[in-house]
Amino acid sequence: MRYGFCNADELKRLCTEDGFFPVLRESFSLSDRYLIVPGLVDVHVHLREPGFSYKATIATETRAAARGGVTAICAMPNLNPTPDTPEHLKVQQDLIDRDAVVRVYPYGTITMGEMGQELSDLEGLKEQVIAFSDDGKGVQNEDMMRAAMHKVGPMRKIIAAHCEENSLLRGGYIHDGEYAKAHGHRGICSESEWAPIARDVKLSKETGCAYHVCHVSAKESIEVIRRAKAEGVNVTCETGPHYLLLDDSCLQEDARFKMNPPLRDKSDREALIEGILDGTIDMIVTDHAPHSAEEKSRGLEKSAMGVVGLETSFLLMYTGLVKTGILTLKDLVRLMHDAPCERFGIDTEDDYTVFDLGVQTVIDPKEFVSMGKSTPFAGQTVDGRCLMTVCRGKTVYCDETLKEVLA
Ligand code: DOR
Ligand code: ZN
Ligand code: ZN
Repeated sequence: MRYGFCNADELKRLCTEDGFFPVLRESFSLSDRYLIVPGLVDVHVHLREPGFSYKATIATETRAAARGGVTAICAMPNLNPTPDTPEHLKVQQDLIDRDAVVRVYPYGTITMGEMGQELSDLEGLKEQVIAFSDDGKGVQNEDMMRAAMHKVGPMRKIIAAHCEENSLLRGGYIHDGEYAKAHGHRGICSESEWAPIARDVKLSKETGCAYHVCHVSAKESIEVIRRAKAEGVNVTCETGPHYLLLDDSCLQEDARFKMNPPLRDKSDREALIEGILDGTIDMIVTDHAPHSAEEKSRGLEKSAMGVVGLETSFLLMYTGLVKTGILTLKDLVRLMHDAPCERFGIDTEDDYTVFDLGVQTVIDPKEFVSMGKSTPFAGQTVDGRCLMTVCRGKTVYCDETLKEVLA
């Protein structure tokens, strides 16, 4: 872990014509306002290409990543075609090679077309994918997941699971809690998340396959994962800023608050913070999920699930968890860089991000580079601003205010 602070003069000296390669040391003065961190890593992002370029593109969303200080992302495979064979993956990889401005590592699917009926060509994909996931859907069948883990375990790859038991959903679309009850909405119970996690933990133990739980939202899930870790199961997990900072008491009749899994209740949010503090939760991701304005305009019941996050995640976590004294900056860099790099084997050499921590920013989706504009944090003020992002030694984002700083 390396990060540090500097003042404007030092920042000027670091921005040379040859590029930006600071020697990051923690001995920079803590009172200086410019924070230099390694390029952030987000292992759960939806880029929407190939197949859904009306929602977003690799070009737009990797630029959004850069604007958020993120230089490495893992791309979820709910695409068309889904990356379930090397031929299908090539369609996606060619677009990444052509259009991405930050590092993009694709997931391969666990099952063909994410349909849960037949395993993907796991063997054929293994050299070219970062891990395997059917994100967007849970693998419903236990034997299918067991077979996948038997194959993926010896490859030393990870299965990253979207945990959702369809038979428990009963048409729900927000958390099955106070808000749903009070406003006549159908709820998604927490068991639909923790039951499949409990099943997969057992399978991971049985097969030895490395297992990663996507977007944990419920307190029971945390407890299942905590116990599994104590037993030495090869399991890690992630959660996102919205689950850590919001709960169903924040809900409005607006699809900005609709994602899957849903915002749960206060006790869940507190359990997630506990899970971050005791190491049960390993990393913070966004589940950046851009949709078109029309798809997000149909209210809580009828809109698409998913919110964007790449351009706001670090500053939201800095404001909500570091400034409030819940986490140290060192913890946050671990959660948003070191831990995902280590678990997924990602290298961020010559990737840096500079944040100005001496200003405040109002989150305004109109300013997003992302084609997705739906976020529950619209209008909120955060501490800090991303000034510059460097990926592989190349500047991939330069904030308009940087000129003044360097003047
Ligand atoms: O909110 C979500 N959006 N959850 C998912 O599981 C899928 C994602 C998407 O692809 O839009
Ligand atoms: Zn998911
Ligand atoms: Zn997702």
